[in-house]
Amino acid sequence: MDAITLLKNDHRQVEKLFKEIEKGDGNREKLFKELKDELDVHAQIEEQLFYPAVRDAKQTHEIVLESFEEHKQVKMVLMDLEKADKNTEHWLAGRASGWKR
Ligand SMILES: [Fe+2]
Repeated sequence: MDAITLLKNDHRQVEKLFKEIEKGDGNREKLFKELKDELDVHAQIEEQLFYPAVRDAKQTHEIVLESFEEHKQVKMVLMDLEKADKNTEHWLAGRASGWKR
């Protein structure tokens, strides 16, 4: 499996976890931990391997800069959501504004 396919598969896995959390089935705490772990590893792979490989190309330079900024925002939202009580409607509402743009 090539790196691009691996990263795309990660995206699908994360989307699946978002949907599971939104549906309300299963343990929200467990699903969120799984989601956060997936995103942490995924972001690390992109930031340490993928982005440096494409950052200097004229066609992708701006996208890479935006992606670093998006990762920074996602990490902040995840930290907030991790600290908050996941058993409230507010948590799900905060999640909605934080990870859906
Ligand atoms: Fe990604």
